Amino acid sequence: MEKSNGLQVILFPLPLQGCINPMIQLAKILHSRGFSITVIHTCFNAPRASSHPFFKLLQIPDGLSEIETRSHDVNLMLTLLNERCESPFRDCLTKLLQAPDSETERKKQMISCLIHDSGWTFTEPLAKSLNLPRLVLNATKASFFRGHFALPQLHRERHLPLQDSEQEDPVREFPPLRKKDVYRLLDEESEVLDAYLNRIYDATKSSSGLIFMSCEELDQESLTQTRQDFQIPVFAIGPSHTRFPASSSSLLAPDETCIPWLDKQEDRSVIYVSFGSLVTISESELLEIAWGLSNSDQPFLWVVRVGMVNGIKWIEAIPEEVMEMLNKNGKIVKWAPQQEVLKHQAIGGYLTHNGWNSTVESVCEGVPMICLPFIWDQFLNARFVCDIWRVGLHLENRIERNEIEGTIRILFLEAKGEVIRERIELLKEKVGTSVKQNGSAYQCLESLVDHIFHLSS
Ligand code: UDX
Repeated sequence: MEKSNGLQVILFPLPLQGCINPMIQLAKILHSRGFSITVIHTCFNAPRASSHPFFKLLQIPDGLSEIETRSHDVNLMLTLLNERCESPFRDCLTKLLQAPDSETERKKQMISCLIHDSGWTFTEPLAKSLNLPRLVLNATKASFFRGHFALPQLHRERHLPLQDSEQEDPVREFPPLRKKDVYRLLDEESEVLDAYLNRIYDATKSSSGLIFMSCEELDQESLTQTRQDFQIPVFAIGPSHTRFPASSSSLLAPDETCIPWLDKQEDRSVIYVSFGSLVTISESELLEIAWGLSNSDQPFLWVVRVGMVNGIKWIEAIPEEVMEMLNKNGKIVKWAPQQEVLKHQAIGGYLTHNGWNSTVESVCEGVPMICLPFIWDQFLNARFVCDIWRVGLHLENRIERNEIEGTIRILFLEAKGEVIRERIELLKEKVGTSVKQNGSAYQCLESLVDHIFHLSS
């Protein structure tokens, strides 16, 4: 850490792996710039204190029952968390700021600002009443953040069923999605979500700034438009993991045997398969993926989280004879040290759900993707990968053994795969330059640090 600058920043991540990683990365960046860090977090998915010896961690009760913490309904979980954390968060923050004389105390403790995930929507009046500046961090791509406010309107205008001739039509309000993507995305839509999006919009607009883990090279148009729409400072500070490894914020223990296994494989021969921290699949989808991988003859490293397959514990539904084939050519783990894996020279492709963290991690290592998005922003990230940057192949939701086998072969063995590989190398370079000195993300980070510094003066 640089010498302390005497200022403290309070961070409040959403308790989801894909949201914790960027927030903890930001904490590490600010700590390295001399800020002291306090993280307020829920009991559910709490970060491990031993992994963050330099941060002050304050836990608040979240009121989630054991059953609720196991729910796969992310919208429901976010609604419950926002309802139940408001009062404990208020108590915690107020105590930190030592009300009633909060202004004086804030100066004395030199708390500069609160940075919270955009998914927390109750922080605005509280921070305002405490006279505490507030910044918002959003863990998705800027184009998704901007576009997703159109979802309620798209939901109202949607007419089922979607005709075959319309499937590939572009969606003007939410580019570069196609109609079929929006229909799948809207499966999760509800009126509760409409109200939630309105609150996110208002809370962001009234904040002192918005932070994305993206950069001009990946998001230029949307960043410009977001600045115009929100009229607040917008900081695209780049893929955060390029500055500090994210392993310390992993909620599950990564299986470190992946690395010695990869060491034994040929360069660029292995397909890495992982669908992040939230996606669930059916038993039959598990089997199709297993057959597809096995038939491709390409070595693979496959992450299947415990509980990821609906109705079973892990992978016991895969018949023994298929397991025998899989074990010859691959390795299945419950959680991987993903960033180390993607960095490994043995990795030649990534069959991914296209969460934003995973997508940028893959871009930064120059690993071409096979895209299989399931929920939310993943559809948009997959379109960017395949249609805009053209650094991946889209499975178009065909979770079938022949499709999976064929797409892996194209990526690893055919000229088309080679072209994709060359393109992602170029994109990797561009993004790499962005986080280096004087690059766009580097400069944005400098502006952010400066902005936070001046919020307290
Ligand atoms: C979801 C959304 O899809 C994402 O875009 C949003 O920003 C947050 O919620 P998630 O399913 O968690 O995210 O995916 P992703 O954003 O890719 O984040 C997963 C993180 O877990 C990555 O940083 C990845 O490196 C890490 N990971 C994943 C591991 O460390 N090991 C694994 O085995 C799998």
